[in-house]
Formats: sequence, C-alpha cells, structure tokens
Amino acid sequence: MTRILGISGSLRAGSFNTALLRAALPMAGDGIVLEVVTLHGIPLYDGDVETRDGIPAPVQSLKEKIVAADGVLIATPEYNNGVPGVLKNAIDWLSRPPADSARVFSNRPFALIGASQGNFGTVLSQVAWLPILRTLGTRFWSGGRLQVSRAQTLFDATGQLTDQATAARLGEFLNGFAAFAAGK
Ligand SMILES: Cc1cc2nc3c(=O)[nH]c(=O)nc-3n(C[C@H](O)[C@H](O)[C@H](O)COP(=O)(O)O)c2cc1C
Repeated sequence: MTRILGISGSLRAGSFNTALLRAALPMAGDGIVLEVVTLHGIPLYDGDVETRDGIPAPVQSLKEKIVAADGVLIATPEYNNGVPGVLKNAIDWLSRPPADSARVFSNRPFALIGASQGNFGTVLSQVAWLPILRTLGTRFWSGGRLQVSRAQTLFDATGQLTDQATAARLGEFLNGFAAFAAGK
C-alpha cells in the first residue's frame, strides 16, 4: 500500500486547489491511497507560543500524518507570483523544532501541483517552493508537471473537475508520483 497525503494550500471552501486534490481521489491506482487535508486550525507561527506551549496540536497531528505517508502531494495556490502565506506558515510550523524536522521532511518524497485563475497555472509559485523543499531535505519528484491555469473554466460550480484533458494529466501525475514514492 502506498499512502499519499495531499495537502491543499488554500482555506477557501471553493478552492480550486482543494478541488484538484479531491478530483484525484478516485484516480488512485491499485495499492495507492490518497488522503486530502486542508490547513484549517493551523495557527500563525509564533516563536513565543512555541517556547511557552510547544507544538500546537493541529500541527503535531499533521506532522504525524506526513510521517505515516509514503509521499506528500502539495496543491499550491500562487499569490503575487510567490508561495501563499497559509501554506508557507504551515510548512514553517512543521519544521519545528529543528530536531524533529528530519523525521517529517528528510528524504520524504514530495511533489507539487497547483491551480490558479490566471494564465500561468502557479508556475512561479511552484518554482518558488523549490528552495524551500530543498532546504527541508525532501526528495522532490520532478517526473511530472501540473500547472492548472484558468481553473475557473475547468471546474463546475460544485467543484467537480469537468475538463477531461486536465483529469487525464492529474491521474497520470498522481500515479507517477505514487510509483516514485513507493520506490518503483
Ligand atoms: C492575494 C492574492 C494574490 C494572487 N496572486 C496571483 C498570482 O500571482 N498569480 C495567479 O495566477 N493568481 C493569483 N491570484 C488568484 C488565484 O489564482 C486565485 O484566487 C485562486 O483561485 C487561488 O486558489 P484557490 O482557488 O485554491 O483558493 C491571487 C489571489 C490572491 C487572493
């Protein structure tokens, strides 16, 4: 069994990034399980809170989900041509304390997808994630690319992915990454 944890970097109920991950759920091939989570409940990183109270329970819980996964698939929005603060904040919390960071990130397969309403489909955001994922020591999968542009034209009002070409690319990406995460 290959377990992939999909993390959406958007909190919006109508998020295209969350919808993209959810669209991938039934695409997981034999022996692959995809779980999709959002970052609701993760507080803003505050070093004083960390010193006083330690790692917040929602952060600890997400850490354990990552540790239990064979690979992590991040769906990132793009904000102002860079990474979105909500997602960067969560990654920053997850990297604390430094002594526990390797358990969570080091050598763990990671991959990026993203959806935007603009014409460039999170390409700059995905590029901006690379030094962060390298710093954390993840094993980044570069075997596929999925940068979904003009997402508002590809999903219906209920968040269903209606574009067949994007669906095909999504399934190929998920199963390609899962094979990498499984060491195949
Ligand atoms: C603060 C902010 C900055 C944005 N900057 C970009 C951008 O640089 N490039 C882009 O393609 N879309 C940008 N957008 C539009 C997002 O692509 C759009 O809001 C998208 O739906 C966000 O992802 P979500 O649907 O998962 O929430 C921005 C949106 C916000 C709120």
